[in-house]
Amino acid sequence: VPDSLDQLVDRLKAAAEPSRLRLLAICSRGEWTVSELVRILGQSQPRVSRHLRILAEAGLLERLPEGSLAFYRRVREGPGVLLARRLLELLPPGDPMVEADRRRMEAVREERRRRVERWFDTRALAWDSERDLGVDGRRVERALLERLGGVRPRRLLDVGTGTGRILELLAPLVGEGIGIDISHRMLEVARVRLDRAGFRHCRVQQADMYALPFPDGHFDLVTFHQVLHFADDPEAALGETVRVLAPGGRLVVVDLARHDREELRRERRHRRLGFEDAEMRSWFATLGLEPEEPVRLAGEELTVVIWTGRKPAPRGLRVAA
Ligand SMILES: C[S@@+](CC[C@H](N)C(=O)[O-])C[C@H]1O[C@@H](n2cnc3c(N)ncnc32)[C@H](O)[C@@H]1O
Repeated sequence: VPDSLDQLVDRLKAAAEPSRLRLLAICSRGEWTVSELVRILGQSQPRVSRHLRILAEAGLLERLPEGSLAFYRRVREGPGVLLARRLLELLPPGDPMVEADRRRMEAVREERRRRVERWFDTRALAWDSERDLGVDGRRVERALLERLGGVRPRRLLDVGTGTGRILELLAPLVGEGIGIDISHRMLEVARVRLDRAGFRHCRVQQADMYALPFPDGHFDLVTFHQVLHFADDPEAALGETVRVLAPGGRLVVVDLARHDREELRRERRHRRLGFEDAEMRSWFATLGLEPEEPVRLAGEELTVVIWTGRKPAPRGLRVAA
């Protein structure tokens, strides 16, 4: 439904303030907590919260509450979408304030990345015994193999491979397997594991899931096993993998269903408390993936979900995975 004149004026008024325009620009690149936005903007928390409330009430930003945190991002649906997009197009290119915000956004991201990296670096040796979160890992692996249905992808990418268990599991099915991770220590363990199993067609390398060092369309299968809940911008991470996925290829995300175990943030550095089906479906839709029916594996407290989607193949092209 298009805005009435009054509604349009209200929305314009909400945006017509320098800090709020900056917030709109920041929240169009990822999902941020209030404390991160406070650091990026360099203003007090009450001020930032007030700006956020005004933008959310005007339907330009949305607030996604999740346990003790809330994430803010630019709206994806509703009457504010078009205005938010137009305003961002009009931001003066190279504006020093907007550029400085961008640098601080990168710094906040980098710091988060380093924290996760350090945390996993210290846990690499014990990781295999710590992996399960109350849902039997073997059951998840069986369900994953079943979902893949015996297809034999030529090239597999396992994102956030950690100690390489998913590479090891899928190695017999694939022509070539590559695992990437930001933690050197995890990768050291993965190398020993692959070596021991004699899988010479599989290897691991250090890389960041937001900037994969591979050309477009390189892989037939990309897996994320218990990795996406660490992402501060899950859609950007998924988007980067869709880029390296070949037409007809498949993306597999194994992660927790939405839960309220807040302590996983403190104790295990999770950023997101799992994901909703609707949330994953909307990311898949935005990225042009055709979603398949998710598989749910309920444990005693947490549920693991296998979400899969296919990158459409041009008509007549053989489906790869
Ligand atoms: C919970 S572990 C899962 C490891 C493995 N997939 C498994 O199931 O055992 C999450 C992994 O994601 C990696 N990770 C976190 N952020 C990352 C990023 N930005 N890029 C690449 N890997 C990342 C961590 O270093 C860690 O090894």
